[in-house]
Amino acid sequence: MSRQVEQELINQNNHLMIGGVDSVKLANDYGTPLVVYDVHKIKKQLNLFKQAFEKNNVDYVISYASKAFSCIAMYQLLKNEKVHSDVVSGGELYVAHKADFPMNNISFHGNNKTYQELSMAVDYQVGLIIVDNFNEIDLLNQILEEKNQTINVLMRVTPGVEAHTHEYISTGQTDSKFGFDLESGQVEQAFKLLNKSKRINLKGIHAHIGSQIFAYEGFEQEIKVLIDVLANWKKESNFDADILNLGGGFGIKYTADDQPISIDQVIQKITAEIKIQTKEQEIKMPSIWIEPGRSIVGEAGYSLYRTGSTKSVPNGHNYVAVDGGMGDNIRPALYQAKYEASLANRINEKDEKTYELVGKYCESGDILIHDLKLPIPNLNDLVVVYDTGAYGYSMASNYNLNLKPAVVFVENGKSQLVIKRQSFEDLVSLDLSL
Ligand SMILES: Cc1ncc(COP(=O)(O)O)c(C=O)c1O
Repeated sequence: MSRQVEQELINQNNHLMIGGVDSVKLANDYGTPLVVYDVHKIKKQLNLFKQAFEKNNVDYVISYASKAFSCIAMYQLLKNEKVHSDVVSGGELYVAHKADFPMNNISFHGNNKTYQELSMAVDYQVGLIIVDNFNEIDLLNQILEEKNQTINVLMRVTPGVEAHTHEYISTGQTDSKFGFDLESGQVEQAFKLLNKSKRINLKGIHAHIGSQIFAYEGFEQEIKVLIDVLANWKKESNFDADILNLGGGFGIKYTADDQPISIDQVIQKITAEIKIQTKEQEIKMPSIWIEPGRSIVGEAGYSLYRTGSTKSVPNGHNYVAVDGGMGDNIRPALYQAKYEASLANRINEKDEKTYELVGKYCESGDILIHDLKLPIPNLNDLVVVYDTGAYGYSMASNYNLNLKPAVVFVENGKSQLVIKRQSFEDLVSLDLSL
């Protein structure tokens, strides 16, 4: 079914409004495919997290996981909203730095940070490096020695918690490429190395159990495991952690079937659990850090496409193709992600048929939505796919040498281009002739 949209988001021309701007005007002004962010929705999500923590009277930090979507304007927005941000590569770090984002509010993640990336992080004096493995401890000590510097770190632990989400976005299970394994004693071994390093200041612990999590129970188990570790560090070495970082993973509503726990509820439960556990284990109450990505930008993002070819296969499917696809949104092909969509220029019209909404890429798997009910599309109708703000543009590719879309921010009836559409010249800008 086309998504049922609230009446106040539909204008007199039967067009979908996004952030007070007519979606058809956005498509006409900036072209398609186009990624549109409703900035008000991003700010609202950040505020929901802030309010939830403040209500519970704890020390906290919200560190936006910029892998969900990042660009100069996004880091500027985060800076204005006074939240921290994670980066996972030299590239994200570079862009954050270019945006004049405070380096002290950056946490640097990754399971295979290079010499160059760690050097850059040390030179920029990022707030925290989340140390992931033994090689990284050695490399970091070496770089700090070379540069005669020190740095704050958290230790990433694999807590052995299954988050009950898709295998590729589940990271907390023991057999994972991320973090120090708890069961085999790697965590204790790494603690000794970090705690004795003269140049590394261990500030606390980190885990991330997965993404698009709907149930609280995974977080509860994660908290128990991490606080047990902290209690052990306290007992064995009299170490007090300043920071307990629970990662991200807060689920969002892509389709009517998705029922995520509310931000208010999950933060209330998390803070209550940490208060109880720290008291029971007689350790200092740490600052609670979270790293939401999807829940900040997911529902704020809209992908706009023009319809092109259509096809009906006798005893098969009806197909309608759009001018984008897996190059700007790989999630349906990568992990069967589900989305809802509508015809944004005919938003109140009745659905007539069921379609496979397909892209223009040379892959049979380039299907954005299966079994989508729509009014019968005309050529150049405007399709909106909802909730594409997380891991859409940020995973975009130039597959088939299609161009990456433009990105626009909208707020209070105004739009602003924040990432230009690629040009054909961009496609050859790095190429060299024989
Ligand atoms: C370490 C870490 N933190 C935070 C996130 C953000 O997760 P989400 O976008 O589900 O909130 C991820 C996502 O993969 C991650 O790996």
